[in-house]
Amino acid sequence: MIRKKDVKIVLSKVKGFKNPVPELEQYMTPPDVAADIMNIVRLHKKQSYSMVDLGSGTGMISFAGALYGFSVKALEKDPKAVTIMRKNLAIINKKVGKNLEVSIINRDVRSFNDESDLVVMNPPFGIQEKDKNLVFLEKAFETSDSVFALLHCSEKKEVETRKFLKRFANFHNFSTTILKTYKIQLPRKMFFHEKENKAINMDFYYFEGKKV
Ligand SMILES: C[S@@+](CC[C@H](N)C(=O)[O-])C[C@H]1O[C@@H](n2cnc3c(N)ncnc32)[C@H](O)[C@@H]1O
Repeated sequence: MIRKKDVKIVLSKVKGFKNPVPELEQYMTPPDVAADIMNIVRLHKKQSYSMVDLGSGTGMISFAGALYGFSVKALEKDPKAVTIMRKNLAIINKKVGKNLEVSIINRDVRSFNDESDLVVMNPPFGIQEKDKNLVFLEKAFETSDSVFALLHCSEKKEVETRKFLKRFANFHNFSTTILKTYKIQLPRKMFFHEKENKAINMDFYYFEGKKV
């Protein structure tokens, strides 16, 4: 089994968005965080095989999953991000000396209808297009009864956000656990960013479908 520190080294080769599209909230998960969340997923879900990454961007979480042995479907709407993801996949395959099981699907999340053992995702925050994060969550709940998601949590609204997401998941018959909270540095990439770097909090959730 590959070690987390080796996953992180391989993921450091993943290139990010060239010209991130603000409406699509294109922020790349840092390699150490992607390696860490997938290590947590692997320890939780040893028996799982298939994984879907909704809003896969340039591939960071998908590649982390594939390096830990999952068969991954990476779904991304933006064709430019998909082109970078394909190049990244070729670079990583070369680095690890084998073809990782990643199939790339260029499609809007709303038109995805497959099922999977797991969903692991870092969806748009739902700030530029209000509630887009909830569109992703609903799709994830349709796709699997094991959903892992890295979700933005504004420090000022921490309590309300967590309560809201718990109610939202409950309404869809899923239980909610926050496994870890990360502080992530967002580099200044969008025109509306005022600071050079901004630290944000991201909660890593596990939503589990309740048996009925
Ligand atoms: C926060 S980024 C995360 C990117 C990547 N998963 C990562 O962790 O580095 C969210 C991604 O969702 C994609 N996205 C936004 N709206 C989408 C939609 N309607 N359908 C599919 N992907 C979408 C964006 O293009 C972007 O790549």
